[in-house]
Amino acid sequence: MQAASGNEATLRQSGRMLLVGIHGAQRALRLYPLENAAVQRALDELVNVADALCHLEGAVEIRLSGDVIFVNQTRLRLGLDNFAAFSGFVATLKSCGIGVLHVEEGISRREWQVYLSIIAALPAGTDPEERLAIVQERLERSDVARLTVGPPTDTATSVGESAGADEGLERAKRTYARGVAAARDVVQGVRMGRMPSTRRLKRAIQAIVDQVMDNELSLTGLTTLREYDEYTFTHSVNVCIFAVALGKRLGFDRLQLYDLGLAALLHDMGKARLDTAILNKSSGLDDVEWRVMQAHPWLGTLTLFKMREGEELPYRAILAAHEHHMKIDLTGYPAPVRPRQLGLFTRLVAVADGYDAATTRRSYQDAPWEADAVLKEMWQNPGRGYDPILVKALINLLGIYPVGTCVILDTFEVAIVAGPGSDSEQLHRPLVRLAVDPNGLRISPPGTLVDLTAAGIDGTYLRSIVKVTTPDRYGLVVGDYFI
Ligand SMILES: [Fe+2]
Ligand SMILES: [Fe+2]
Repeated sequence: MQAASGNEATLRQSGRMLLVGIHGAQRALRLYPLENAAVQRALDELVNVADALCHLEGAVEIRLSGDVIFVNQTRLRLGLDNFAAFSGFVATLKSCGIGVLHVEEGISRREWQVYLSIIAALPAGTDPEERLAIVQERLERSDVARLTVGPPTDTATSVGESAGADEGLERAKRTYARGVAAARDVVQGVRMGRMPSTRRLKRAIQAIVDQVMDNELSLTGLTTLREYDEYTFTHSVNVCIFAVALGKRLGFDRLQLYDLGLAALLHDMGKARLDTAILNKSSGLDDVEWRVMQAHPWLGTLTLFKMREGEELPYRAILAAHEHHMKIDLTGYPAPVRPRQLGLFTRLVAVADGYDAATTRRSYQDAPWEADAVLKEMWQNPGRGYDPILVKALINLLGIYPVGTCVILDTFEVAIVAGPGSDSEQLHRPLVRLAVDPNGLRISPPGTLVDLTAAGIDGTYLRSIVKVTTPDRYGLVVGDYFI
């Protein structure tokens, strides 16, 4: 790891703001003419952010290496909140053949304006190298001296920060965010009375399946990033991730996993037809509201039937939307008219759904359960109506302490579970990141990674989990320990 330059965290933060600023101005200029107030406002913001950063650093170099962005050699981490801006920014640079963007201190508003206008007016159909030459030539012709662009130089390894370990996480975050964006598209489409195409959704699900096939736990950790405040969409994506990971465990092949992923992602589609005031209610629901809420399975069925008219949508997805709250003893809702056996897709989706819903903080459920307690309840209480074999499979998949669980150790340290330990037989000894030291002091993220299967020379374990706790009690944001 390279020595921290100045204040790396500040640089990361301002670097991100600069990217969001450039992207915002670019987008505004694509939609409106230059003199439009929205464009001018976006430019104001960009100039302010860029000035502040140049003042701090002297000059700023934004470099693209693959899909990774470096600002003055500091790698920017992809956040789920600014994912759209990041990917838009990267796509624009790539399409213009730009690998490096260099900005000097004192860059004027006019210079930004010229650069953005050149990018917006580039002729379509030319190849990136040609486009880069055009950008360079036009910048020069317009006397823009404090902003230069250059071709990609692949120097990812020369900057010192190893990309390897983070690469997987970045890829996982992109896949996750793509799933959320696709789910949002479909839900909003249905809300507006349109029948959205599921093409984008299917591509996003394929990416999730590919990622789970590659490493089944790579995405489950992300389901704990609760601060991403879009419950409806993240819940669908989380259920999809858990269902696909479970399906993989059960030996489903890739095509079956695509169908299962689709069924899981669309299971709550009926909620898009409900009044958002009820969906987002912060207090408990009254009887009437509960009845409305309980209509979502059949509303989902109707919606998916309509969607199926123009698309390839497996019947099992429609069935899962209809049956996912029925419970295996059929005491749930909607009450079945005649005896039936719930299909495997339904039972899988129900387990994934129950687990995610109980561990997530929702508007009408302000204290989420800890993951281990949820698994225990699902396993031990038949009244919950889950298929016990599938609950067992979920426990085997996630461990007793799923990724993101906050635990107290016998060393008086507090840690966040990061993954399964090196001995897969010992479910109670996962890999953790230390977050609070024995004196109660917070360890700044990402914290040291410790394998709880590690033992001293006398064979006793160095650290063991005493109990599960809530991260709030220690002022911890679980997501910080993944980024
Ligand atoms: Fe549901
Ligand atoms: Fe659900």
